[in-house]
Amino acid sequence: MVTLVAVRTKPTYTIHIEPALFDQTMLTPAIKPRQICIFSDPTVFGIYGSKLAAVLQSSYHCPVESHLIESGETNKNLVSVAYAYNHLADLRFERGDLMVALGGGVIGDLAGFVAATYLRGVPYVQVPTTLLAQVDSSVGGKTGVDHPLGKNLIGAFYQPRAVWIDPHVLRTLPLNQRRAGLAEVVKYGVIADQAFFEFLENQVAVLRRDVIRDEDWPVWNEVIARCCQIKADVVASDEKEITGHRAILNFGHTFGHAFETVTRYSSLLHGEAVAAGMRAAGRMACALGLWSAQEVDRVEQLLDALELKVALPPLEPSAVLDAMRSDKKVRAGKLHMVLPQAIGKVCVTSDFKKEDVLTAMRSLAETKV
Ligand SMILES: NC(=O)c1ccc[n+]([C@@H]2O[C@H](COP(=O)([O-])OP(=O)(O)OC[C@H]3O[C@@H](n4cnc5c(N)ncnc54)[C@H](O)[C@@H]3O)[C@@H](O)[C@H]2O)c1
Repeated sequence: MVTLVAVRTKPTYTIHIEPALFDQTMLTPAIKPRQICIFSDPTVFGIYGSKLAAVLQSSYHCPVESHLIESGETNKNLVSVAYAYNHLADLRFERGDLMVALGGGVIGDLAGFVAATYLRGVPYVQVPTTLLAQVDSSVGGKTGVDHPLGKNLIGAFYQPRAVWIDPHVLRTLPLNQRRAGLAEVVKYGVIADQAFFEFLENQVAVLRRDVIRDEDWPVWNEVIARCCQIKADVVASDEKEITGHRAILNFGHTFGHAFETVTRYSSLLHGEAVAAGMRAAGRMACALGLWSAQEVDRVEQLLDALELKVALPPLEPSAVLDAMRSDKKVRAGKLHMVLPQAIGKVCVTSDFKKEDVLTAMRSLAETKV
C-alpha cells in the first residue's frame, strides 16, 4: 500500500509512505547527484545504513558516502554542524549533490540545517525512522540546532525535496520512543481533526501494543498518513510562520519545551514533555472558560490509555515561567499559548495571566501525568 501526500510549499514535494520501502528502488526526485551523503547516527545507520546505501546506489548510480553523528539531543549543536561542514568540504560536495537524513528528529533537524547552509543550500531528502519524525519533524522544513540558552534557537526554514517513510522501521524503535511519538499524533487530533481523534480512541488496543503485529500495519499507515496530511496542510497555509496559523502545531509545546529545559533534557523524552504540556494547556484552557471539562478529561483519558503518563520531577514554577519567556512564541514580550476550544479546534492567545500558567502547572504536580 502506497500513500502519497503533497506538501504545497515552495518547492512542492511529496511524502511517500510505503511499508518495506527500503526493499525497492527509491522514487527519485528530479536530482542527478554526482555523489550522495547519508547523515545518520550509529544506531540507526547500524540497522538500516547499508540497505539504504545499496538502494540509493542502484537508484542514482553514484557513490554513497555517510556522515555519522552521535545520537541524542545533546549533539544537536553547532559543534556537530561544523564537523559536518568539514566532512562535506573534504568530499568536495557540490550544490547538485544530495544529502539524505536517515534517523529521528535530531538527525533530521541537524542534517536539514547543514543542507540549508552548506554552499547556501544543497538538496536533501528526509528518511525518518522514529514515529515522531515520521508524523512531524521530517515534514515542513523547520531545521536547526540547539544553543545553550534555548532549544532550536539557531535554524532555517528549508524544505526537503522529498520525504520517504517506511513504517516498518518502527519495529526496531524502542517502545518508549514509539509511545513518546504518539503524543504528537494525539496533538494532531486535538488541533485539527475530531474524526482522527475518534479513530485514535477506537484503535487504542493496537497503538499501545508492546510489539507491532503484522495485522497492525494498516492502522499505523493510517496514523502516519493522516498526521502528514494535517501537517502538510498547516505548513502550506503558513510556510514560514508569518500569519501565525502554523503556530497551532505548538499545542502542548510551550509547557513541554519549558519542562525539557528545566529538567536539562535529562529525564523526559520530547514526546513525554509534550504530553504533559498538552495536559497543562488543556487544564489552563478549561480554567479560562475556553474548553469544557468533559473534553479535557477525554483527551487525558486517551493519553492515559496510550501510557503517556510520566511522573514530572519537582519543578520550580518560576523556573518554568522563565524558560517559557525564552520560548520562540514570545512576541513583543508577550507569551502566546495554543489553547483548545474543542477537540479539532484551537486558538492562539496571549490573553491570560501568569497565575493561570502557574495554576495549570500546580495541578500537574498533584497527579502523576
Ligand atoms: N523540525 C521539526 O518540525 C520538529 C518537530 C518536532 C520535533 N523536532 C525535534 O525532534 C527531535 C526529537 O526527535 P526524536 O524523538 O525522533 O528523537 P531522536 O532523533 O533523538 O531519536 C531517538 C532515538 O531513537 C533511535 N532510533 C531512531 N530510529 C530508530 C529505529 N527505527 N530503530 C531503532 N532506533 C532508532 C535513535 O538512535 C535515537 O537514539 C528534537 O530535537 C525536537 O526538537 C523537530
